[in-house]
Amino acid sequence: MAETQRTLSIVKPDAVAKAATGEILRRFEQAGLQVVALKKLRLTEAQARGFYAVHKERPFYGNLVKFMTSGPVVASVLEGPDAIARNRELMGPTDSTQAAPGTIRGDFGTDIERNAVHGSDAPETARLEIAYFFNAMEILGPVEALPA
Ligand code: RTP
Ligand code: MG
Repeated sequence: MAETQRTLSIVKPDAVAKAATGEILRRFEQAGLQVVALKKLRLTEAQARGFYAVHKERPFYGNLVKFMTSGPVVASVLEGPDAIARNRELMGPTDSTQAAPGTIRGDFGTDIERNAVHGSDAPETARLEIAYFFNAMEILGPVEALPA
């Protein structure tokens, strides 16, 4: 039995600029991942640095921060069976030039850096990343918790 999970997705500035947001969200929904929180925002430099702090020693960190602040992004929380792995399957590999057609990066990414989407890579990072973007009131609760 697949475990129901939540994961953080970001449509990155390149894909937002290509007007691909709707198609990307459609793919999540068609794959059985429900959008339980959604917002469009432009990251500040400090916010982008914080989000990708795990990569701060990597040579590509400066470029990554520049890219992620170059325009608006669309962040969402996706929920469904094995949502973390399922989302990463839909995304395809980090390097868009290696991503198969039909994957999000294969269809909308350009290279290893401009790769259209982010997705959390494990339950603990998903928890931290969801809390980085959304407070509890911005995320759909279980149906039985909704007011009558
Ligand atoms: P993400 O965190 O954005 O979902 O991507 P990922 O897990 O597939 O890849 P990760 O290793 O976490 O890298 C984070 C983002 O940094 C950029 N990157 N550039 N120039 C490079 O060699 C390079 N490597 C990674 C990409 O935008 C990648 O998604
Ligand atoms: Mg990553």
